Amino acid sequence: MATATLPTLQIGISEDDRAAIAQGLSRLLADTFTLYLTTHNFHWNVKGLLFTSLHTLFMEQYTALWNAIDPIAERIRALGHTAPGGYARFAELTTLADAPRDPPAAMEMVRTLVAGHEAVARTARELFPRADQCSDEPTADLLTQRMTSHEQTAWMLRSLLED
Ligand SMILES: [Fe+2]
Repeated sequence: MATATLPTLQIGISEDDRAAIAQGLSRLLADTFTLYLTTHNFHWNVKGLLFTSLHTLFMEQYTALWNAIDPIAERIRALGHTAPGGYARFAELTTLADAPRDPPAAMEMVRTLVAGHEAVARTARELFPRADQCSDEPTADLLTQRMTSHEQTAWMLRSLLED
């Protein structure tokens, strides 16, 4: 319960910087959740000769994405802001398209996920300079981890599309 005596959050990052970083992290959270849901959808609906390997790969990837959302949301809270967490709000915030209503062919799923991971990496990278400028190392560290993971996953998925 909020009270009049609640002390001001003073961690050495200005109110403006905290608000801007929380907004960027909200976009990253929405992107990550949307990519999580699409990846889980593809785990359920993939068909074809590569079923077993893609079904398993997508499970590993949606699990990693699911595990990524909590630290992003909790960093927003630590910066004094509210973490978004509903489909409508995520749809407003995300740069990614919703999962397709009709599941595409297996390799089209892979293409969709490559584009998704690269888009989330861009969202994280766009926010990095602001976090860096105001010495928000915890956010910079989180963004670095997220960029590493998305870029590695994008490379692995891309390799499936190469000869
Ligand atoms: Fe499953």
